[in-house]
Amino acid sequence: MSMISKGMITLFALTIVMIFGFLLSRHGKPYSDVLLTIHKVVALAIIIYSYLYIKQHTSVVLNNFWLVLFLVISVICILALFITGALLSIGKVDYFMLKKIHLPVALLMSVSFISFIVVFLQKVKN
Ligand code: HEM
Repeated sequence: MSMISKGMITLFALTIVMIFGFLLSRHGKPYSDVLLTIHKVVALAIIIYSYLYIKQHTSVVLNNFWLVLFLVISVICILALFITGALLSIGKVDYFMLKKIHLPVALLMSVSFISFIVVFLQKVKN
């Protein structure tokens, strides 16, 4: 499979996560198990897929300032999304505070991760 196709699959999966996030939010509590499972599992699949893929090109990433920056921002955001997402689904911590964190972090993560993919694809093509 070409590099571009792999990047496209990741972007498609990220779009699915975002769509199911907004559906979860609209549906409200108690959360639909189906929506929540798809949201979580596709998010986890992106992480595993990206990790395995990036691992094969570690030197390309480490030799580029922007790739390192976008990757660090994405990883921090993903950690925050998993923590806030888990707390939202348990429902024991302040709902509105968690929602205020989850959405902007999801947007920041998307911008940073898409930027990573764009720069990464340019570097591995050269
Ligand atoms: C790449 C990772 C993730 C992204 C990009 C993401 C993105 C989003 C987005 C955009 C929303 C809609 C927020 C709103 O409209 O206010 C959302 C909602 C939600 N997400 Fe995630 N999410 C991610 C990971 C997770 C994980 C791992 C969990 C659970 C363990 C989770 C649980 C939830 C829940 C429960 C909601 C509904 C919040 C509400 O009631 O409004 N998310 N997510």
